[in-house]
Amino acid sequence: MGQIAHLLERPGPIGSVGPVGGIHDHLILEGSCHGSENAETTETGVEYCDHRSPSQHVIGAFTGTVADFAKRGILVRPENAVALITGGASGLGLGAARRLSGLGAKVVLADINDARGDEESGALGESARFVHCDVSDPADVEAAIAETLEPLGRTALLVHAAGIAPAPRVVSRDGALHDLEVFRQTVAINLIGMFDVIRNAAGAMSANDPGEGGERGVIINVASIAAYDGQIGQAAYSASKGGIVGMTLPLARDLAGVGVRVVTIAPGIMDTPLLSGAPQELKDSLAGLAAFPKRLGTPDDFAHLVVAVVENEMLNGEVIRLDAAARMPAK
Ligand SMILES: NC(=O)c1ccc[n+]([C@@H]2O[C@H](COP(=O)([O-])OP(=O)(O)OC[C@H]3O[C@@H](n4cnc5c(N)ncnc54)[C@H](O)[C@@H]3O)[C@@H](O)[C@H]2O)c1
Repeated sequence: MGQIAHLLERPGPIGSVGPVGGIHDHLILEGSCHGSENAETTETGVEYCDHRSPSQHVIGAFTGTVADFAKRGILVRPENAVALITGGASGLGLGAARRLSGLGAKVVLADINDARGDEESGALGESARFVHCDVSDPADVEAAIAETLEPLGRTALLVHAAGIAPAPRVVSRDGALHDLEVFRQTVAINLIGMFDVIRNAAGAMSANDPGEGGERGVIINVASIAAYDGQIGQAAYSASKGGIVGMTLPLARDLAGVGVRVVTIAPGIMDTPLLSGAPQELKDSLAGLAAFPKRLGTPDDFAHLVVAVVENEMLNGEVIRLDAAARMPAK
């Protein structure tokens, strides 16, 4: 333990934290010796090593749980994160939950779809749970944060994927006006609901022990390329997604003081249940909008980027298009 304390006091990056083999209660500082003969289970726990000191690979041993180690504030890593995922019962949110859970994170799926939330969290196993949460209801949001914190200890990652995508014209062919309530509801869920989840999650993250570089948490928002290339019928949707793009930098600047990074992903056309009713012909034509590769994105493409954002601490205050260079036409 003393040696771990010594290691934590050392300047510079010290490598990532991950479970060793099947022993999820023990940790090793990852380096060239990760998983090799240099990483041994001993009576006192798992020995760890420093890949920057090849002549002295094994430099100590630490016994403790992932939670113990995470509390010591090493880094926010997919492997040790407690992740709150809104819209986690379906599509992109579920894709992120699956990948993060597979890497060792504890995931909380927050969604209004109770049946799918229960089913999907059950399928992910003991490290996952479901909480009913309408992101446009402040009481639900507060409860979801509390239900994540109490049993799991520390929310270090928020993936906010909950959203709706209505598509009425401002003036339809029969002369009917865009229902103002639809506009309000879209902004209430996609933008105001997102901000409410962000402020509550950031408040919880600010109480985390900081990692070596001062990081306490990572927030990943889901916008859309409709924030830039909104199509006919997308006035409300694009307004809500444009708001997310616009608040990304000020959020990152605002939360820098508490060590929380904020990154927004703007997906192109993704093959999720949102598109499940679409005929194959339409899906093919949508895939054709991509420059390369000419296919729809998948929840796992999204999840891959979520993990990359968590792992790269220089990503902050940025909006990343995930669209294979697609640019949407008017319709
Ligand atoms: N699929 C695409 O092509 C695409 C493209 C760009 C952006 N997006 C965005 O990605 C996000 C996820 O979409 P998806 O494609 O995975 O759709 P999806 O319908 O598969 O998933 C959205 C989830 O959000 C949940 N949800 C809806 N309203 C909610 C609320 N008020 N509170 C909590 N949960 C709520 C739904 O129950 C659902 O489980 C959305 O914000 C969407 O706008 C999707």
